[in-house]
Amino acid sequence: MQVAMVTRFGAPEVLVTREVPDPVAGPGEAVIAVVAADVLWVETMIRRTGGGEYFDVTPPYVPGNAVAGRVRAVGDGVDPAWVGRAVVAHTGQRGGYAEQAVVPVEGLSTVPDEMGLVTAAALLHDGPTALALAEGTRIGSGDAVLVVGASGGLGIVSVQLARARGARRVVALARDEGKLGRIRELGADFVIDLEAPDWVELARAALGGQGADVILDNVGGRVGEAAFAAIAPRGRFSAHGTPSGQFAAVDPAGAHRGGVTVRGIADVQLTEADLKRLTELALAEAAADHIRPVIGQTFPLARAADAHTAIERRAVFGKTLLLP
Ligand SMILES: NC(=O)c1ccc[n+]([C@@H]2O[C@H](COP(=O)([O-])OP(=O)(O)OC[C@H]3O[C@@H](n4cnc5c(N)ncnc54)[C@H](OP(=O)(O)O)[C@@H]3O)[C@@H](O)[C@H]2O)c1
Repeated sequence: MQVAMVTRFGAPEVLVTREVPDPVAGPGEAVIAVVAADVLWVETMIRRTGGGEYFDVTPPYVPGNAVAGRVRAVGDGVDPAWVGRAVVAHTGQRGGYAEQAVVPVEGLSTVPDEMGLVTAAALLHDGPTALALAEGTRIGSGDAVLVVGASGGLGIVSVQLARARGARRVVALARDEGKLGRIRELGADFVIDLEAPDWVELARAALGGQGADVILDNVGGRVGEAAFAAIAPRGRFSAHGTPSGQFAAVDPAGAHRGGVTVRGIADVQLTEADLKRLTELALAEAAADHIRPVIGQTFPLARAADAHTAIERRAVFGKTLLLP
């Protein structure tokens, strides 16, 4: 089968297609014929700079940890009725950028009949994470929610989910007129251009009242730190985003004075059980039309490097998928 493999750390060109033996399902495992594989911003970072202290990865490796497809074969001890079913699964740290992926059978979730496999793949990360963020920050009716970096996969689903959870006001921060218009159509009450010099004041005005009850920071760094100025007393701030280079470093003393709860990336590192629960909840929320991932761009496996380039150049909107 074909895989897209990172041969060494570096520019997107290090991601090349290779032929490798077809995988075989061991006891308790299933082989999925992959229809769509998720591509994450963090995978571009690891490919470029290595895994650092968080990710144990050494080239050559096949990136990608979420796929959708049909079960092609199962190993000993697995109900053969799985064969042919439409499923999604997390593959562990790696192995998703491939024509076939092997996963433990308990990691499989069945895709509802009415939902396409490509849509299901688009939900695999952003759905559970957006749900974990909404649970952790307790988004509820009456809340004013600020989504920082609302043009990405997670940002878009978070805007929709805040709306579905009955938020009083949903304010989205992004850049680029075209992207801002699309985010408004997806349910944000106000969209603010991050390139406006006074975006913090504009966001505060749009939020109304005492500011944001909840801020979801998908960007980090100075942007996230500046957004903190818009938090309301006793608000909840999630600093889980890093595309600007690092997580937002929020002053703990300042947060404490306002009774603000600051959460971080560790709070969205889900246990296997939570990941399964929230994956199935995300599929159900999408089937109920509460959330609808936006698949902005797709690439064949052989163009995985182009997918990474597009993400790095910020020339993408919503979710990026590989279609092996
Ligand atoms: N998706 C998940 O399940 C998940 C789970 C845990 C943590 N996270 C973290 O959450 C963040 C967002 O994830 P995502 O999946 O939504 O990523 P994404 O689809 O790649 O979106 C990235 C967002 O960040 C913005 N951005 C990119 N580069 C930037 C820069 N240099 N400065 C300022 N803004 C920049 C993009 O805006 P433009 O449109 O302007 O480029 C976009 O809104 C990432 O840090 C990711 O690691 C995600």
